[in-house]
Amino acid sequence: MENERGSWGSNIGFLLAAIGSAVGLGNIWGFPYKMGKSGGFTFLLVYLALAVFVGFIIMMSELALGRKTGASVVGAYHAVSRKFKWIGWLAMLAPFLIMSFYSVLGGYCIEYMSLNLSNLAFSGAEVKTGSDLFGAMLTNPFGCAMFTILFLVVCLLIVKGGISGGIEKFNNIGMPALFIMLVIIIIRSLTLPGATEGLKFMFVPGYAVKAGFISEAPGLVTVLSTAGGQMFFSLSLAMGAMVTYGSYLDKKENLVKNSAVIVVADTLVALMAGVAVIPAAVANGIAQGIALSDIKLGGPSLLFVTLQDVFQAMGRVGPLFGVIFYLLVLIAAISSAISLMEVLVTFFLDRAKVKGRTGSRSKITLWVSVAILAEALLVAVDGLGSNGLWLPGQGGGATIAGWNDCWLDFMDCWSEGIMMPLGAMLMALMIGWEIKPKSTLEEINHGVAGSTSGLDAFYSVCIKFVVPVAMAFILAGQMISFFGEANSVVCYIISIVILFAFWVVALLGHSKKEN
Ligand code: TRP
Repeated sequence: MENERGSWGSNIGFLLAAIGSAVGLGNIWGFPYKMGKSGGFTFLLVYLALAVFVGFIIMMSELALGRKTGASVVGAYHAVSRKFKWIGWLAMLAPFLIMSFYSVLGGYCIEYMSLNLSNLAFSGAEVKTGSDLFGAMLTNPFGCAMFTILFLVVCLLIVKGGISGGIEKFNNIGMPALFIMLVIIIIRSLTLPGATEGLKFMFVPGYAVKAGFISEAPGLVTVLSTAGGQMFFSLSLAMGAMVTYGSYLDKKENLVKNSAVIVVADTLVALMAGVAVIPAAVANGIAQGIALSDIKLGGPSLLFVTLQDVFQAMGRVGPLFGVIFYLLVLIAAISSAISLMEVLVTFFLDRAKVKGRTGSRSKITLWVSVAILAEALLVAVDGLGSNGLWLPGQGGGATIAGWNDCWLDFMDCWSEGIMMPLGAMLMALMIGWEIKPKSTLEEINHGVAGSTSGLDAFYSVCIKFVVPVAMAFILAGQMISFFGEANSVVCYIISIVILFAFWVVALLGHSKKEN
């Protein structure tokens, strides 16, 4: 079995794994808060439009690219393109960087789960506030490092088992379990007094400003790029994950339907996570007499400060809900992390094969985990900046706003902020203008019964025009969020220049290409 490439045991197994990859921390702490802050229901409509015209298109393209070439992300781009073969490397570096903080955050989940477990076992122990706990955890680099290692070991054991024997098995149990736990948390959350305030924050357009959650509504441009960036991260796009998972998929499966299911399920879980988390956080904040603008509803502090306080305030059953909740988040984190790891493992496995060697999955997984651990330790020891570990770009008074706050932001800026939108823009230009949509559509239409002319036209227009332009916009937006509003003009210019430069490259490329 070791040298076999392997494949998914069933289409449903593939779907659960792909949904597992998509459903992650981004759904739980990113989406609900961004939706509330950026216009509630209106934001949801913008998000859905972007998901249909951009996310769905890229999802199909990535799965098709993987399945068509049956190769790792690096191999896949090499096989189809002359001008853009190097995008594969970008799509491999990004998941590697994401893993640096994803595994640390996964470690935090394990720590909080055990904490609630011990509160459950030894009720009556001294009660600490969420922010005290979080602060104590961050300033204990040794503890964070240990929990990061633990998280990575769990991922390693799953990925070592292979596609169907490890990843598929984990998701087959993990995803349904996650869903059930989410429903339990939703019921608890919605029955708390004051929960409707939270629902209004999330869904009613303009309520966030009117009720005083935030002081000022973001502008349309910010809303668009927030929705785009979130949609991308949430769907695990442009990071080789879907190319890799697609490369293990059987030819007879329907890529169009599969892509639609993944997009819908991911959005649904994001909404459900919002309903599970926001009403509880808001209700508890109100009960404690905290000003609405001071309730932290997003990012790490939502999970590890606000919600911990919610569970503490629930009395004796609190720790039980705490255990369920942090386990749920942990499963979401593991199922995403294993797909990121698999991108790297598949690459090394395929490379060994190309060189005529028999790659051992176990050995490769071990080395990949060690490499990830090396960079994750930087993030773990830094403790979101609390321990002030030196980082590039910091010091000397010259600040690069955004990225140099802490190691997590630094890694996030490069991966999510730059490589992800850039990779997707280049991919769209490659498919739309170099190798032509037809080449990808052949693969996409494989396994689809009946006429596909409507889909073909929709796909071609999106991949040629809509996606590249949207990506340029999202790239600019991401850069602005990291480098600051003050640099927004420069960010737009850079992004437009990149778009046109590579569009020209793609155009020049196609006439000569035939490999
Ligand atoms: N989608 C994951 C989330 O919502 C995170 C993520 C981003 C990811 N890019 C990825 C996961 C690539 C797997 C592969 O949290």
